[in-house]
Amino acid sequence: MNEKITVLIDEETVDARIKEIAAQISKDYAKKEVRLICILKGSIFYTTELAKRLTIPTTMDFMSVSSYGAGTVSSGEINIKKDLDESIEGLDVIVVEDIVDSGNTLSQLIPELKKRNPRSIEITTLLDKPSRREVDVDVKYIGFEIEDKFVVGYGLDYDQSYRDLPFIGVVELDG
Ligand code: IMP
Ligand code: MG
Repeated sequence: MNEKITVLIDEETVDARIKEIAAQISKDYAKKEVRLICILKGSIFYTTELAKRLTIPTTMDFMSVSSYGAGTVSSGEINIKKDLDESIEGLDVIVVEDIVDSGNTLSQLIPELKKRNPRSIEITTLLDKPSRREVDVDVKYIGFEIEDKFVVGYGLDYDQSYRDLPFIGVVELDG
């Protein structure tokens, strides 16, 4: 491979921030039980690290989606590649994302999930690239705001590689 990865956010910093978000969620959802919805595959590391640090009862379910994006014929619809295994009716749900970029994925997914009558639904994302936003998304818990750079690691991939890196890195193409 001809890419070079440079560290943008190191492992310690990511861990510390997830711990803070977990504490905040545990406080906000005190005496409640939360259902984390992991958006595969990118969010898998963030979901599990967050879940480990929550001090409230937590369950998890997994979903794989692809967005048609803005400006296409199918805009406004989400392609569900793998649906949740369980109903979310009456549950306090937190959708866990790796990164919010254009906002298209979540702006299509959230209305779809709301149709299933959860008691509440919020979003957390490890990373946010606000400068890339095309559609407004109401994200309650944000790990880090980053510049418009393509990042990998901690679940995020470049052509399916680098998900396993324990830090957030920036991909630089050689040549
Ligand atoms: P959105 O619908 O444009 O917000 O798309 C978000 C999805 O695009 C994320 O869940 C990622 O899978 C992918 N994505 C966006 N930016 C990056 C990046 O910098 N690295 C890796 N994946 C990214
Ligand atoms: Mg994703």
